[in-house]
Amino acid sequence: MNTAVADDILTQLRRPSSPVQNAAQEAFDNLTETVGTVTVDNPKMQTSNVNVFYAEKQAIFDVNLDIGNNEVIAMIGPSGCGKSTFLRCLNRMNDTIPTCRVTGNMSLDGEDLYGADLDPVLLRARVGMVFQKPNPFAKSIYDNVAYGPRIHGLASNRAELDDIVVDSLKKAGLYDEVKDRLDAPGTSLSGGQQQRLCIARSIAVSPEVILMDEPCSALDPIATARIEELINELRENYAIAIVTHSMQQAARVSQRTAYFHLGKLVEVNDTNAVFTNPQHELTENYITGRFG
Ligand SMILES: Nc1ncnc2c1ncn2[C@@H]1O[C@H](COP(=O)(O)OP(=O)(O)OP(=O)(O)O)[C@@H](O)[C@H]1O
Ligand SMILES: [Mg+2]
Repeated sequence: MNTAVADDILTQLRRPSSPVQNAAQEAFDNLTETVGTVTVDNPKMQTSNVNVFYAEKQAIFDVNLDIGNNEVIAMIGPSGCGKSTFLRCLNRMNDTIPTCRVTGNMSLDGEDLYGADLDPVLLRARVGMVFQKPNPFAKSIYDNVAYGPRIHGLASNRAELDDIVVDSLKKAGLYDEVKDRLDAPGTSLSGGQQQRLCIARSIAVSPEVILMDEPCSALDPIATARIEELINELRENYAIAIVTHSMQQAARVSQRTAYFHLGKLVEVNDTNAVFTNPQHELTENYITGRFG
């Protein structure tokens, strides 16, 4: 098919009056409950009736979703559908946005994320986050990884701190590449190495959950493959939620996939089922590339 014809078809599909778009909009309007299974047998985190507002504008509508122990859950959906917003609920990062208001129930091992006893700073150590752009601190490789353990007093002497740093770099699959230059700035590493440094930094405070918001979007295919391999290894010890725009990546790394659309959680199921046999029309449209 030539490009002009393909463009024409895409324009037709995207026109508000297109039958596909109309049917999808109707399916969305009628969506009152997520399709699939939002709960798991062995939950690490549980969320129910989550709504998020930025000032008056609602960005998340009544989402219920569990994140299981030792699982990777992928969150997919068109740009602006609320993936990052929902991810940020899980470690209360939205608290740092003044206009943002979150309602609903969220827990970690049954403990209320908004409970009076739960310090958000400690929560963010237990539920770590890796961002889209690698963001190492302007510090040495060593100090990047040692930063969290120092703040949280996780080591009582230098030898213990050394152990944590080495162990975290090993778990992030970076140690061999940097062991001779731990004093070099973190920013002197390649993009893929910087992202693994950020993963090492989040691992260093012994998190229980790792949230990743498009962790590979700034990386080349080789660095991406390395991170994906790492995600697979990390699953043995952590629960992982990853936002991705790459459906291939979601299929490769996750066991469950959640599809968001305009702030609603449309469908969640085993990854295989979502990609081979989506239940909701909106999910199907997205994964077949109709729009998004
Ligand atoms: N800090 C903010 N202030 C106001 N509105 C925001 C803020 N962050 C996000 N939003 C709005 O909330 C909605 C969801 O945004 P969010 O960033 O969660 O989407 P996303 O699915 O992560 O998109 P992308 O794939 O582009 O990263 C969008 O309409 C966005 O404009
Ligand atoms: Mg986002």
